[in-house]
Amino acid sequence: MVRRKLSGIRLAVCIIVILMTPLAHTDEPMHMGVASCASSVCHGRTTISAHNRVWMTEFRVWQDSDPHAGAYDTLLSEQSRRIAARLRIGNPAEAKVCLDCHADNVPTERRGGRFDLTDGVGCEACHGGAEDWLSSHADRKATHDDNLHRGMYPTSDPVARGQLCLGCHQGTPGQFASHDIMAAGHPQLLFELASYSPLQPMHYAIDDDYVERKGPQDPIDLWLHGISASASMTLTMISRQTWNGDAVFPEVALYQCDSCHRETSKARGTAKGFAATLPSGSIPLNDTALRLLVTVARAMDIEGASTASARVDALAYAAVTQRSRLPATAAALAPWLDTVSSAMLSKMRSRAQLASIRRGLLEFAARGDALYFPLAAQVYLGVVNVNTALGELPATDTRMQQWFATVATEASFDPAGFELQGKRLFDEFR
Ligand code: HEC
Ligand code: HEC
Ligand code: HEC
Ligand code: HEC
Repeated sequence: MVRRKLSGIRLAVCIIVILMTPLAHTDEPMHMGVASCASSVCHGRTTISAHNRVWMTEFRVWQDSDPHAGAYDTLLSEQSRRIAARLRIGNPAEAKVCLDCHADNVPTERRGGRFDLTDGVGCEACHGGAEDWLSSHADRKATHDDNLHRGMYPTSDPVARGQLCLGCHQGTPGQFASHDIMAAGHPQLLFELASYSPLQPMHYAIDDDYVERKGPQDPIDLWLHGISASASMTLTMISRQTWNGDAVFPEVALYQCDSCHRETSKARGTAKGFAATLPSGSIPLNDTALRLLVTVARAMDIEGASTASARVDALAYAAVTQRSRLPATAAALAPWLDTVSSAMLSKMRSRAQLASIRRGLLEFAARGDALYFPLAAQVYLGVVNVNTALGELPATDTRMQQWFATVATEASFDPAGFELQGKRLFDEFR
C-alpha cells in the first residue's frame, strides 16, 4: 500500500516536470528533447519500476548501452572527419546528409527548448515528436491508442517499425548512404528487423502486460515484415534512380558491391543461379530483399509467387540490359509484390510451413544463388529466425557455426563455402 502511494507521488512529480517544459506551436509536432524524458522520476530511473507498466529506466539503457545515443558522437570521430574530407562537405557534425541518420535532425522550428542535436538518435527519433503527448502519456488512464492518436509513433507495429528502422539502416531517396559516401569510408549497411530489434538493446520487456496493451510480438512476423518493407524500399529507390542526373552509371550503391569490388583471384569463374542468366560481366542489382521475399513466398505456396519471382528475374535482367527502362520496370513490379507480400503476411504460419520456409532458404543457398554478401547474410539470418521459432538447431550448433563462419563478415565472405555448408544443411533438413 505504501509502495503504491510512493509510485503515485513519483508519477505526479513526473507529470509536473513534463508540464514545466515550454511548448511552441507548428503543424508538425515539436521534438521536446531527450532531457524531457530523462528525469529520474520519469524514464531516467536507475532501477526497473515494479509499479509502472514500463521499466522507467529507458533513458539509462539508451544512454549507457544503446549505440543510437552515440550516433552523433560518431560524427566527431576521426573516421567521420576522413569521410567528410573526401566528400568535401566540411564538418560532418554539421552536414545534413550525415545528421539525417546520425541524429534526430528535425528542422530548427520543430526543436523544443530542451532539444539537443548532440543527443544523437534520441527517443523522439523513434517514438515521434512528443509535443502533443508528452504530458498526457504519463497519465495512468492513457491507453496506447490514446497516445497513438496524439501522435506517438507506432513502434510496436511491425510495418511501421520496419519503415522506421530501414529509413536509416537501408535508406530512402531523401536520406541515403550513396556510393560516394561508401567510397569515402562509410561502412556498408546491413539490417534485419527481427534480429536487430533485440540488439538495439531492448529497453522494454515483452511480458503478459505488454502483449495485453500492444498485442503479441512474433519474431517471424517481424522478420517477414522487415523483408517486405525492405523490398518495397528497394523498388522505390530503383524507380527513382533517375535522381542521379546525367551520371554515366545509375546510383552504384543500388548494385552488388562485390561484383565490382571482389579480388579477381576470388572470382567464381562460373556464375551460378540467377546470375548465370545475366550476360557475362554484368553488374547485378542489389535485389536482396526482393529475392528473399519471393523465395519465402514460394516456399509458403503463396498465389502469384512464381510469377512475382519471374518478374524479379526480369528486373535483374532489365537492370543490366535496359537501364533506361529500369525505373518503369521497378514501378510496375511494386503493386505485384505488394499483393504477394500481403498474402504472405496474412497467411497462418504452422510448424510445417516454417519448416518449408527453411527448406526454401536452404535450397536457395545450396543452389549457389546466394552469391553476394548481403544476400547470403539475409538467408543465414532468416534460417536462424526460423530455427528459433521451431526451437530447433540453435545458432550454437556446430553445423550452424560452420555455416556462419562463411558469412560472418563482409571481408571474409566465402560464397563457395556458404553454398557447400548450406547444401549440407539442406540435405539434412529437406
Ligand atoms: C534516425 C536514424 C535511425 C533510426 C530511425 C534507427 N537507427 Fe539504428 N542506428 C542508426 C545509426 C546512425 C547507428 C550507428 C550508431 C553509431 O555507432 O554511430 C545505428 C545503430 C544500430 C544498431 C547497432 C548496429 C551495430 O552494428 O552494432 C542496431 C542494432 C540498431 N541501430 C537497430 C535499430 C532498430 C531496431 C531500429 C528501429 C526500431 C533503428 N535502429 C532505428 C540510425 C538509426
Ligand atoms: C542512410 C543513413 C545514413 C547516412 C546518410 C549516414 N550514415 Fe553513417 N551510419 C548509418 C548506420 C545505420 C550506421 C551503423 C551501421 C551498422 O553498424 O550496421 C552508420 C555507421 C557509421 C560509422 C561507423 C560507426 C562505427 O561505430 O563503426 C561512421 C563513422 C559513420 N556512419 C559516419 C557517417 C558520416 C560522416 C556520414 C555523412 C557523410 C554518414 N555516416 C551518413 C547510417 C547513415
Ligand atoms: C532506435 C529507436 C528507439 C529509440 C532511440 C528509443 N526507442 Fe523506445 N522503443 C523502441 C521500440 C522498437 C520499442 C518496442 C515497441 C513498442 O513497444 O512500441 C520501444 C519501446 C519503448 C517503450 C514501451 C515499453 C512498453 O512496455 O510499452 C518505452 C516506454 C520507450 N520505448 C521509451 C523510450 C525512451 C524514453 C527513449 C529515449 C531515452 C527511447 N525509448 C528510445 C524504439 C526506440
Ligand atoms: C559498378 C561498380 C561498383 C559497384 C557496384 C560498387 N562500387 Fe565501390 N567503387 C567502384 C569504383 C570504380 C571505385 C573507385 C576505385 C578507385 O578509386 O580506385 C569504387 C570505390 C569504392 C571504395 C573506396 C576504395 C578505396 O580503395 O578507396 C569503397 C570503400 C567502395 N567503393 C565501396 C563500395 C560499396 C560498399 C558498394 C556497395 C554498396 C560499392 N562500392 C559498389 C565501383 C563500384
